Order: sequence, then structure tokens, then C-alpha cells
Amino acid sequence: MRKSIVAGNWKMNKTVAEARELVSKLLSPLMEIIDVERVLCPPFTSLFAVSSMLDGSGIGLGVQNMHWEEKGAFTGEIAPNMVKELCNYVIIGHSERRTYFGETNVTVNKKLHAALKHDLTPIVCVGETLDEYESGRTSEVVLRQINLGFADVDPAIASRIVVAYEPVWAIGTGKASSGENANQVHGQVIRPALSGLFGEENAQAIRIQYGGSVTAANASEFFSQSDIDGALVGGASLKPEEFTSIVKAAVK
Ligand code: 13P
Repeated sequence: MRKSIVAGNWKMNKTVAEARELVSKLLSPLMEIIDVERVLCPPFTSLFAVSSMLDGSGIGLGVQNMHWEEKGAFTGEIAPNMVKELCNYVIIGHSERRTYFGETNVTVNKKLHAALKHDLTPIVCVGETLDEYESGRTSEVVLRQINLGFADVDPAIASRIVVAYEPVWAIGTGKASSGENANQVHGQVIRPALSGLFGEENAQAIRIQYGGSVTAANASEFFSQSDIDGALVGGASLKPEEFTSIVKAAVK
């Protein structure tokens, strides 16, 4: 069975002092939930502080973005080997990066290859906008994101990838997808696409998270679905008790 993975994407929130405070509240409750892979993704500036607090806790640390090149004249960017010094996970192609910072399926693909090369676990985000959803184009959009974003990945290492299905209309809106709708996209669009690229066995091993207005109240609706293997949590990951409840709900 696939082990659930729940990651908290803090987005652009928390100073170093605030990050320390949040982690101090999360640490012991999260350490107890060993049956779920738990990951925190603070902003870059807090990584060092959070990494020393998480040392030996079994809780993973991730970044929200990185560049694909190893070094060079890329002002403002962070390289995979720099990430690897502190983290084991990287979120790639979040819809906010696609919408506001020009991320494309092509850059997603470069970052994915860089993450795999540097032994980072990539959490690759896909998902349709409200317009695309309402015009019945979800499958088309998600398939294109997967086929282009995951191009040329060696099937032998593909099971290390985590996919996050985050319908853009559900992010930060308080209007989560239904568990049934998300499960349908996971099971009938994403997993078959992964199977086409990497073979059925690898596709079955890849974890597919749901993200978009996940809360303590709706988490079990998602985790009870056959093809939902975890969650990528935004706003609720900034609330220690709520995030802990979500992670608890992911225990199989
Ligand atoms: P919310 O949980 O705040 O809707 O954000 C989801 C998300 O974008 C996580 O990456």
C-alpha cells in the first residue's frame, strides 16, 4: 500500500521567529504520527532554522521552488545542490508559480529532472483553472501538464515522484473539490497518464496528493478515496492543531 504523504506549503508566510514558533507547536504532535510521511515547506529564509529543529524528528523539509541549474548568474534563484544541503523535498510547478512567475510545463520538466538527479523528492503540481473546469477541459489540461512536465523521466526512478492535483479554483478559496471529483481525476486521468509514461506498476507506486482548501473538517473525505494518497495543504498548515488533525486523518 502507498504510504500517505501530507505536506504543508506555508507559501509566503512566517518570519524566522514565527517559523520557529509554529514548528515548536507542531513538532511533538507530528512526531507521533509515524504512519504518514510528514513534510513542512517554509519560505527559503526559514529553512535553516526549521531544519535544525526537525533534525532527528522524522519530519521532512521541503522548498517551494528551485532553479534547475547547478550554479551561475541567476539572480534571486536557488540551486538544487543548495536545497539538498537542508531539504529532501521540492514543490515544483505550483499554480501560483505558473500564474505569477511564468512557470511552464517546460520549466517544470527541467526542475523535475534536476530534483531527481539531486535525490530530492519532487512534489509536482498540476490542475486546471476555474474556466478550464467549467468548460470540461480538466482532463485535457492535466494530461498536457503531465505529458510535458514528466517527459523523458526514467521509469526506473519515476516512483520517487509525488504528484499534487491542485485544481486552481479550489486553492485558497474555501471551495474544496469533492472527494469523489478529486478521486476521479486521480484515478481516471492522472494515474492512467502515469501508467502510459512509466508502466502500470510504477504508476501504482506514485503518490498522488490532493490540494486545495483541505481542512480538518474535509480531510477524511479525501483520504478515504482509493486514489488519493495524501494532501498538499496551504492555509491550514499554518494552524498547528488543524494541520495535526489533517495529518492524523491520513493514517490508513
Ligand atoms: P490552500 O490549502 O490554502 O487552499 O492552498 C492549497 C495549496 O496551494 C497548497 O499548495
